[in-house]
Parts: sequence; structure tokens; C-alpha cells
Amino acid sequence: MPNGPETCVIEGMREVWECYRGELNAVEDQIRQNLDSKVALVNTVSAHILNSGGKRIRPLLLILSARLAGYNGSHDILLASMVEYIHTATLLHDDVVDHADLRRGKTTARGLWGNQASILVGDYLYSKAICHIVGFHNQDVNECLSMACRKMAEGELMQLSYKDQANHSEREYLKIAEHKTGALIAAACRMGAVLADADPLQRDAMFRFGQALGVAFQVADDTLDYAAQREVLGKLLGKDLGEGNVTLPLLHVKQYCTESERQRLAEIMETDEGGDGNFVWITALMERYGSIDYALATARRYIEDAKGCLDAFEDSSHKRALHVIADYMVARDH
Ligand code: IPE
Ligand code: IPE
Ligand code: MG
Ligand code: MG
Repeated sequence: MPNGPETCVIEGMREVWECYRGELNAVEDQIRQNLDSKVALVNTVSAHILNSGGKRIRPLLLILSARLAGYNGSHDILLASMVEYIHTATLLHDDVVDHADLRRGKTTARGLWGNQASILVGDYLYSKAICHIVGFHNQDVNECLSMACRKMAEGELMQLSYKDQANHSEREYLKIAEHKTGALIAAACRMGAVLADADPLQRDAMFRFGQALGVAFQVADDTLDYAAQREVLGKLLGKDLGEGNVTLPLLHVKQYCTESERQRLAEIMETDEGGDGNFVWITALMERYGSIDYALATARRYIEDAKGCLDAFEDSSHKRALHVIADYMVARDH
């Protein structure tokens, strides 16, 4: 890997993970302890995906948001682990919707146990998270997470309704990202501030921080789908194209390419032929028209907006860590 700014950010992120290792290990313990269903299949499938090496970005953001706002207790650990359950549920469902065979470098749950088990275990993890979350008896937490779950479902449905069309706008694309990915990250950050009993302005600032971060995260994910190294990504490349999900790099290239190139793009989309040759042709076209750079620059704008939201808080080591995570959202390679 070249020794550029991305490498520095990834290095900085490693230090953040190291610095909060104690808290993250406690989250792992909670994740494991709560896999206690009497139905063996639930525990087997959940353990497969939960032990497969996710980045744990959402738990980390919740914990850091709580600390930033002055929280010193330990309830953030359980709440963070339940946010990871919800995230995991969305992945189990998403892999069915996207017909995905690989996640985190491993065969997906649906590949090993089938779509039905993947959907039902996803439902279980959602429900299990809700059982624990209501135990907090905190109306703000309940509202925050229930709204996030609603918005995530709406985001996936918006995406489904635009499938194969490539005639939605960049604005509509960003709305999808805000719903399907921004919502849960925003909720995680806001709940950290809620646990710390932060004032309403600070709670809102953390919500906006997480939401902008989430949009940037999804835009980066959508560029990685075209431009990542497969072994590092742990997912198959070109999935979005193959599934007819038109994301920002494709929207951009479609806008700037020639009429005959646009024609060929339309044919590829219509005939559902992601295929290797077509994928190589499209990535070369994206290179020529600067579409990956454009998408990454868009993501970086969201990151700058997100960082601005942290102005509502005094400087601290937690705030500096949040700045590193913000940069990592776009510099990440998986
Ligand atoms: C993947 O999320 C789904 C998206 C929102 C793009 P992550 O990239 O956080 O997945 P893991 O948990 O680290 O595997
Ligand atoms: C993210 O969208 C889906 C969720 C928010 C669950 P993607 O479909 O792009 O995520 P990956 O690429 O499969 O991880
Ligand atoms: Mg997917
Ligand atoms: Mg993706």
C-alpha cells in the first residue's frame, strides 16, 4: 500500500481501536453472553456472523459519543452490543436481498444455512436487541432506535424501488444512504449523548454527526464495491452493478460519458450482465471520468460537516478519536 494520507488514517484508526480495546472487549463479552437462545440454530448462525470479524464501528461510536459527553458509567457497553446485534440483523437480511455469497471474507449465513435461516435469525437478533433496550426504561433511547429501524427498512425499500433504473438523482441516492446507513449510526451517536444526560443541543449535534458520518460511510462502501482489493474487502466486488443497485460512481459516470457509452451502460443494466468483462469496462470508464474520485470527494464533504458538529463539545482525547474515525470512514479499505 502506498504511504499516502490514507495509510496515516488507517494507522491512526488502529491506535483508536487499541486505545478502546478494553471497552470493545467488554462489548464482545456482552455479544457472546447474550447469545443464549434455547434454539441451537439461532446461536450457531448468530455466532457465525458475529465472530467473523466486523469492524464494530457502531459500538465504538456509541461508547466514544458517551465519553465525549462526559459519561463514566458502564451501560454504554450493553447498549453498544445491542446496536451491533441490530447491525448484524440488517446484514443477515441484506445478504439475502443482495444474493451475497461472501461477507467478512467468509461464506454468508445464507450460503451456509439458506435464506430462511438468515432472515429468521436476523429477526431474532432484532427482537433480542429490543428486549434488552426496553430494559433501559429510557424513552429517548427507545424513540431513537425505533426510528432508526424504521428508516433502515425504508432505505432498503427506496433502493429496491429504484433498482435497475439509473434514473434517480444524486439527491435521491443520498437519501437512501441517509436512511439505510446513516440512521443507525446517528442513533448510536445520539444514544451515547443520551446516556451522558447531555443537553438537547448536544444530543442533536451527535445525531447530525452520526448521520453525516453514515452517509459518507455508505458512499465509501459504494466506491469500494468498484475499486477495492477483493482480498481486503472480504466481499465480492461488482455486487451493486450485478444487483442493479445504481450508486454514486455509476450515477456520475452515466452523467458524463458519451451517448454511445451511455447506450452500452443501459444495455448492461437491462440485460443484467454484470459479468467480469462488463465490470472491467465500467471501472475503466469510471477511471476516465473521475467517478471514483468524485464519489470520494462527496463522502469527504459529509465528513467535514460531521466534524463541524463536534464543535458543540470541548476538546478531549475522545473528540480527537472521533475525528480519526470520521476520516477513517472514507480512507478505509474494507
Ligand atoms: C456494512 O457495514 C454495511 C454498510 C452499511 C455498508 P460495515 O462496513 O460496518 O460492516 P462490518 O460490521 O464492519 O462488517
Ligand atoms: C448496506 O448496503 C446495507 C445495510 C445498511 C444493511 P450494502 O448492500 O451496500 O452493504 P454491503 O455492501 O452488502 O455490506
Ligand atoms: Mg449488500
Ligand atoms: Mg455495499
